[in-house]
Amino acid sequence: MNQNPVIQAIQARRSIRGYESRQISPEERQALIEAALAAPTGGNRQAWFFAVCQNKALLDEISLEVKNSILKKPSAKVGEDYSVHFHAPTVVFIAAPAEDKVRGALLDAGIAAENIVIAAQGLGLGNILLGMPREAFNSARGAEFEKRLGFPEGYEFKVAVAVGYGSVTKEKTQAGPNKYAVIE
Ligand SMILES: Cc1cc2nc3c(=O)[nH]c(=O)nc-3n(C[C@H](O)[C@H](O)[C@H](O)COP(=O)(O)O)c2cc1C
Repeated sequence: MNQNPVIQAIQARRSIRGYESRQISPEERQALIEAALAAPTGGNRQAWFFAVCQNKALLDEISLEVKNSILKKPSAKVGEDYSVHFHAPTVVFIAAPAEDKVRGALLDAGIAAENIVIAAQGLGLGNILLGMPREAFNSARGAEFEKRLGFPEGYEFKVAVAVGYGSVTKEKTQAGPNKYAVIE
């Protein structure tokens, strides 16, 4: 196995779906923020915003809204203990302008998200990328959540990263066949 610590963090990463309640440290939180801000953006536009939420009440409200939206779908099943962020104590909500306003903003948001993920992995923290919170932002309470998270005017939810001390482990996902070619 490659001994390079960055390669090792990339290879060790898993989507962790269970967390301890203890919070990450302020230093760890700051390292995640700086990792996000170090991400490249097309034309250096930096058209992103990172709402680093450690407010459990707000996280629970967002999660409940997602749960309610899932339950509206026929045959939907969600457990009593459902948490869209798997009870992680820190969730970074990444917002950016709509794609028809800033083309490439979604890609920039995704790149920053992966920076946060790999930084968290490097710090030994569990993490998972989340698209499902979108349901809460698309709900009747979406504008309220955007405001409480401080999204700039015209910015919308793109993706989130949940971070904390993982309470579960996960097997490595295997890449499918025919996913790359080497052309010499
Ligand atoms: C853009 C994106 C959104 C995702 N959203 C969710 C989500 O809302 N909930 C979830 O449980 N997993 C989510 N995942 C995690 C994927 O399910 C996971 O990456 C995939 O199953 C591979 O597993 P691994 O990350 O452990 O390798 C998301 C991943 C990506 C890249």
